[in-house]
Amino acid sequence: MILRVRREENKVGEITISGAKNSALPIICSAIICDEDVVLENIPDIIDVRTLLAILSNLGLKYNFHNNTLSIKNKKKLPYKVLCEEVNKMRGSYYFMGAMLAKQNKIMITNSGGCNLGHRPINFHLEGFKKMGASVFTHNNFIKIKAKKMKPTNIHLEFPSVGATINLMMAAVKTQGITNIYNCAMEPEVIDVATFLNTMGANIVGAGTKKITIIGVSHLHGCKYKIICDRIEAGTYLILGALLDGAILHGLSGNYLRSLINVLRSSGYPVTTTNNTITINKIPHPSPFNITIGPYPAFPTDLGQPLSVLATQIPGTSIIKETIFTNRYSHVPELNKMGAKISVANNNVIIDGKTKLNSGNFVAHDLRGAASLVLAASLNNEDSTISNIETFLRGYENPTEKLASFGIKAQLVE
Ligand code: EPU
Repeated sequence: MILRVRREENKVGEITISGAKNSALPIICSAIICDEDVVLENIPDIIDVRTLLAILSNLGLKYNFHNNTLSIKNKKKLPYKVLCEEVNKMRGSYYFMGAMLAKQNKIMITNSGGCNLGHRPINFHLEGFKKMGASVFTHNNFIKIKAKKMKPTNIHLEFPSVGATINLMMAAVKTQGITNIYNCAMEPEVIDVATFLNTMGANIVGAGTKKITIIGVSHLHGCKYKIICDRIEAGTYLILGALLDGAILHGLSGNYLRSLINVLRSSGYPVTTTNNTITINKIPHPSPFNITIGPYPAFPTDLGQPLSVLATQIPGTSIIKETIFTNRYSHVPELNKMGAKISVANNNVIIDGKTKLNSGNFVAHDLRGAASLVLAASLNNEDSTISNIETFLRGYENPTEKLASFGIKAQLVE
């Protein structure tokens, strides 16, 4: 599928931010731990969620997904083999590991896929499961994990991995005794998953700090839960507002986007926040920036690629240092084809602005790289096309409507 994009009008974009992809994926997986029905609100209708729902169907679970509300009819027992082709289409499917271990101590699952951002091992997850008493058998195409009984333990993560923190926290919710996880990821999505699990009756303390303690409970009950808004989607449209004529974003406070807001303010952009909105105005002379990406609360890796587009429109040299993934630069050759001057050296993305970005035909290679191409193409009054746009639709809900609010004509073409 292709996205055809051009700028049609100059206007301030005003949109409501959707539910967070990186909360929705682990929360949908962890909902199956419970034997009773679960209702989840604010679930974004994006390809990754649809893929996960196909996996639920494959496990024999019934659900209803309408108007961003997902109702799951849970079962006491599920097949332990999660081997359908959808597992390999995304990264978040690996959250079935923690969920199935909590529910029934056993899973055999196809290796997960997701964006190619360099080598993405899951050794922290697997080492953690082993410490919890599980045996792990890895094969080229699948992983088998099982335990007679999960046991409480202390786990020290070598790096604050988001996925490992969430997977291990989930796996421990029904383990009798106390499990501690140290050097945890502190991302808002970790807090959201813990709050959801606690709403189902789990006893998790410390999510959002470096140490999470899980006091095992014997039963989880059904519940209704509303997930948080997507800070990365919000950040993407905030950057679009800075590139064009400003933005008013509804649905989140700005607390979880502090690092981006600080960068934008230091470049000169006025950004104001309330309990439920973030506003940015256009300015004539922004200054370049020099930032280092890192685990939350540092600047998020998922916004590095979109932010590089803003740097192309700022006179001077800006630098974005990536420290999480080894290959998050797929957008660089495409932006350079448009006329940008970007180089990559020792994990530093060095952008020399200001350059005009020309229209043309471009290829998206990963989710946030695709978002950066959409932002760049939105600057031009002539049509650009972005192919392999499914990568973008994996994580952005309703983009054509949201872009229209910024005066951008974006059309999906089969
Ligand atoms: N790592 C290991 N071993 C592990 C786990 C991670 O070496 O067992 C390394 C990774 O290779 C990477 C670093 O640790 O270098 C961080 O990885 P992390 O586990 O934190 O990332 P993730 O769980 O795979 C999630 C999001 C990503 C987001 C990162 C960082 C989901 C489904 N994915 O990935 O989101 O970039 O956290 O915040 O939640 C995106 O939305 O575009 C996206 C890629």
